[in-house]
Amino acid sequence: MGKKVTVVGAGFYGSTTAQRLAEYDIFETVVLTDIIEGKPAGLALDLNQSRPIEGFETKVVGVTTGPNGEGYEAIEGSDVVVVTAGLPRKPGMSRMDLLEVNAKIVRTVAENIAKYAPNAVVIVVSNPVDEMTALAQIATQFPKNRVFGQAGVLDTARFTNSIAETLAVPVKSVKALTLGSHGDTMVPVPSRCTVDGKPLSDLLPADKIEELVVRTRNGGAEVVALLKTGSAYYAPSAAAARMAKAVAEDSGEVLPVCAWVDGEYGINGVYLGVEAEVGAQGIKKVVEEKLTDTELAGLKEAAEAVRAKQADVASL
Ligand code: LAC
Repeated sequence: MGKKVTVVGAGFYGSTTAQRLAEYDIFETVVLTDIIEGKPAGLALDLNQSRPIEGFETKVVGVTTGPNGEGYEAIEGSDVVVVTAGLPRKPGMSRMDLLEVNAKIVRTVAENIAKYAPNAVVIVVSNPVDEMTALAQIATQFPKNRVFGQAGVLDTARFTNSIAETLAVPVKSVKALTLGSHGDTMVPVPSRCTVDGKPLSDLLPADKIEELVVRTRNGGAEVVALLKTGSAYYAPSAAAARMAKAVAEDSGEVLPVCAWVDGEYGINGVYLGVEAEVGAQGIKKVVEEKLTDTELAGLKEAAEAVRAKQADVASL
């Protein structure tokens, strides 16, 4: 049997994720669901019609789901489910402003995943993502390694792009890293940034690096402020699709993701942005690397900030 992936939510984020997953041509089926009647089916048809031009065989199936789980039988047998459902932010909003409204949506989605795709790995991208990941684990009751969230791959890409633009070098010459939360306590990690193997601190003055760190932390808001009607989706969908690919291929790749941390870095019992080996069972292992004292303090601060909010979601 070929691999099957489901993307829940057919907004810009979900539909571009489905497109990227289909264009990888490694899945037999990509299921795209939404609560808007006809929208996922229309997008699926459109994507399937692109197959002869783009040259992929993956079949995209669009399904409208109902308030009582109608339609969710289509996700049965999914190896991976990417949850994009929920509202995006508008200018001036923080991701945390979406907590209550998106918690209701993510809980319902997670319950249906547990019912119809009980063996799936779940990747959460709905915001605020650190909290929605914790909630999805609670609502599915899946083992913690089988539920993880996005952020690090996206935030690292934003950091990488800024470094490459600042130094006018190809993006592929830059290695960067962000940890922590996908919010105000994001921890871009300059000590792990290199350009052609040279430390970033040899190439840029500290104040310029700090400017890039701040821009990375505000990366999502910068796009929201320009778009005015919603949030980013090209880089976010690239990140989500890449994570789902690592699961489908059981690649064991080390990616920065929102994973359950229990002991690493002296941090216990919280979903937090760290590096982890990703494979068929979700998180194989959280990878602990050396950080500077300031970076480690930032990571611990992020852990406490998200821990408080993650405790709240259990009752939402
Ligand atoms: C962003 C949203 C998706 O950072 O959180 O663009």
